Amino acid sequence: MKRIYLDNAATTPTDARVLEAMLPFFSNMYGNPSSLHAFGQEAKHAIEEARYIVAQFIGAQQEEIVFTSGGTESNNTAIKGVAYARRDKGNHIITSKIEHHAVLETCHFLEKQGFEVTYVPVDKSGLVDPENVKRAINAKTILISVMHANNEIGTIEPIAEIGKIAMEEGIYFHTDAVQTLGHVPVNVSELNVDLLSASGHKLYGPKGVGILYVKKGVCILPFMNGGDQEQGRRASTHNVPGIVGFEKAVELAKEEMAKETEQLTLLRDKLIKGILDKIEYSRLNGHPKKRLPNNVNVSISYVEGESMLLNLDIEGIACSTGSACTSSSLEPSHVLAATGFSHELAHGSLRLTMGRMTSEEDIDYCLTRLPVIVRKLRAMSPLYKKEVK
Ligand SMILES: Cc1ncc(COP(=O)(O)O)c(C=O)c1O
Repeated sequence: MKRIYLDNAATTPTDARVLEAMLPFFSNMYGNPSSLHAFGQEAKHAIEEARYIVAQFIGAQQEEIVFTSGGTESNNTAIKGVAYARRDKGNHIITSKIEHHAVLETCHFLEKQGFEVTYVPVDKSGLVDPENVKRAINAKTILISVMHANNEIGTIEPIAEIGKIAMEEGIYFHTDAVQTLGHVPVNVSELNVDLLSASGHKLYGPKGVGILYVKKGVCILPFMNGGDQEQGRRASTHNVPGIVGFEKAVELAKEEMAKETEQLTLLRDKLIKGILDKIEYSRLNGHPKKRLPNNVNVSISYVEGESMLLNLDIEGIACSTGSACTSSSLEPSHVLAATGFSHELAHGSLRLTMGRMTSEEDIDYCLTRLPVIVRKLRAMSPLYKKEVK
């Protein structure tokens, strides 16, 4: 059976070219970059070259890039790092209601430590209104953190505008760009950000490696104690193969992103139109235009997202009902809840995210199978029979 992967927001496959670049660093180039001998210096050279390539890609300077273990660590380091470093200046943080758990749970943790957090709302398309962020600022605000694009509904937030407000008020601004790096242009000066998180496995790189951009002059207090790697900002021996893989993934994105975005946008729009045309009582979630080129998120009434997901899986199609980390829980997605969804609609949501290897044939296959599955499930739904038939 043909297997179709439509869950690229959860993770992307490692590109074969990335793997090839990484392999020597698992075998003969195994030095520790902190060692002074030739083995160590060879590895150090590789990570400094990677730092240069990544910095260039986002319009940063080399020393502003910190390599981490992924998006979660980058978000934790940015938020806790600023919170602890600026505690004497204030204890108030602003974020949005639709952030990834790596941001939300970090904020919940800090609340228990005496920090105050304002969670700004979003509109029904998932957009944060910069004016709401401005209104939430008070004399004790030390950090604003709003994601670049949402991982569930794909809405792209007005980061440059929020960043301008933060800059005018002299408040640090962090964005979680895990879903955008390598998919839409990311430039730290244009976005007006002081800190930015990204993760290798969302752009065809390996899992377990990420970056945190920290603007020159921004002080963060590391929450891990240990060696003085990454200029004392992130202790632990470098993940050299992972960092080299991140570099290669960025190089590929630099060359291929524009063309890929064009192709993915066509496939995305075809899939959205197909679902809305073929399936009654279905609707698109997220913003119709300000959305990631590969993200389709729909709610289909009178069916459960989990049932659709499992039936699609039987047909060889892999997708998700919410974010991968929460799709095993029965709680409706906090993102859909924040956009004003009822429990019932939130439970019937499906996220289909395309990638570099998705073809038009894959989309056509999905559009033949999904309506059949929905018909079958609705035939078993007492609510559908009562309300519609
Ligand atoms: C928006 C966002 N932030 C953070 C993360 C966590 O990244 P990582 O898996 O690299 O820790 C994810 C992963 O799903 C994400 O989508």
